[in-house]
Amino acid sequence: SRVLVLNGPNLGRLGSREPDVYGSQDLPALQALLEADAAGRIAIDLRQTNDEAELIGWLYEAVDTATPVILNPAAFTHYSYALRDAAALVTKAGIPLVEVHISNPHTREVFRHTSVISGIASGVIAGFGFGSYRLALQSLLLPEA
Ligand code: DQA
Repeated sequence: SRVLVLNGPNLGRLGSREPDVYGSQDLPALQALLEADAAGRIAIDLRQTNDEAELIGWLYEAVDTATPVILNPAAFTHYSYALRDAAALVTKAGIPLVEVHISNPHTREVFRHTSVISGIASGVIAGFGFGSYRLALQSLLLPEA
């Protein structure tokens, strides 16, 4: 089995982007962490795009292949109804979709306090750095998850 770990705009710059907020590790380091946690139980398919259309296409892929999703929608979190509607296709199909954030958006600017994704997500984990993704992966590995 497999999990899609989907990352939205500007997350390809992790490592050098606002390290005070997002830490100094990059996406390849995240992939390695998740693979170590998965220990062969589930394949980690980690992707990043700045393109809303591409992200929506990956959510359709999750629906068509019944693949669980860990989604960091990045700035799309706060305003993309198109992404929300695509993510709703995943959870309405009974496939888990966990929304994650590296930072805790609720401690930051007011525009980050709203997520248009959370209302259709299976669950939300924020504020634990790359630990947010690791906890999301654990949630998918729980018995009965
Ligand atoms: C983020 C939080 C968002 O507000 C921001 O636009 C991001 C990253 C996070 O992981 O903390 O790009 O989703």
